[in-house]
Amino acid sequence: MTVPHDLQDPADHRSGLTNEQVIGQEELLAAARRRLDRGGGVLLHGPAGIGKSTVLRALAAEYAGKSRTVLRCSATESESHLPFLAIADLLGPVLDRVAGSLPTAQHTALEAALTGHGETVLQPDGHHGLALRLAVLAAFRALASEGPVLVVADDLQWLDRASTELLGFAARRINGSRVRMLCALRTESPDGLDVGTCLRGLPHDSEALRVAPLERAQISALLTRRGHRSLPRSTVRAIGAASDGNPMFALELGRAPGHRPYTGRQHRRPGRRRRRRPPPAAVVS
Ligand SMILES: Nc1ncnc2c1ncn2[C@@H]1O[C@H](COP(=O)(O)OP(=O)(O)O)[C@@H](O)[C@H]1O
Ligand SMILES: [Mg+2]
Repeated sequence: MTVPHDLQDPADHRSGLTNEQVIGQEELLAAARRRLDRGGGVLLHGPAGIGKSTVLRALAAEYAGKSRTVLRCSATESESHLPFLAIADLLGPVLDRVAGSLPTAQHTALEAALTGHGETVLQPDGHHGLALRLAVLAAFRALASEGPVLVVADDLQWLDRASTELLGFAARRINGSRVRMLCALRTESPDGLDVGTCLRGLPHDSEALRVAPLERAQISALLTRRGHRSLPRSTVRAIGAASDGNPMFALELGRAPGHRPYTGRQHRRPGRRRRRRPPPAAVVS
């Protein structure tokens, strides 16, 4: 079967595996690596803009090299009502590889979900619902039998409900197998209840790690790296304080009118500054 093109490969800016350099977050990265090296899953959580996707992409790029298969999805709020979308993003590109290892009923159910026909033919609690759940589990197991699998899922808070259920069903049953899960979840409060709920949908040996704010010096390094080199120190300090260490807010404040990023053109060597001309004699009374 052919999976619709727009379901095969989510746009790179949403879930791409880039080698972007992360400023700071060493402890977080170390904790995530410790967990991932033992297998299981990592759930990065924190408020909007704190750096979850940045850390997720860095870890994904690192662990992609240690994986035979990398499956990716990145949910968006505007698409969260579309059933099976995340599962289609994750398993669409590998369906042909796993098709041979699925019993017919499971294959039919998975194909229906991945081609957008799932809504009409699948009853969540009925026979097809179970076939689909088992199909997703069997697909993960088939991939894991070929080598380590890395599942990268960003913005879990917007995952469609059908995919959340399917992924949870599979994740709870693939303990001990070679499937690593690397996920990110937006939470508004530090003790967000969503973290516990979400963790229950990941493999047993998963760990929730909170993404902490950056320190002032790191915010300053971020602003410099993003071209805000000409900001006075007092402004950088003020941005550090006002942003509370949130990199996205800091960058937004840096972009505020009057804080234009450095483009190379603003720079003038000392001594080459043009002097303001004296007003014409006629207007000097
Ligand atoms: N540790 C970091 N190092 C470098 N840039 C960062 C870091 N954390 C966040 N950023 C930058 O801040 C912005 C918001 O980060 P992002 O990862 O999208 O946040 P979140 O996914 O938590 O909403 C992005 O422009 C990102 O490049
Ligand atoms: Mg993000």
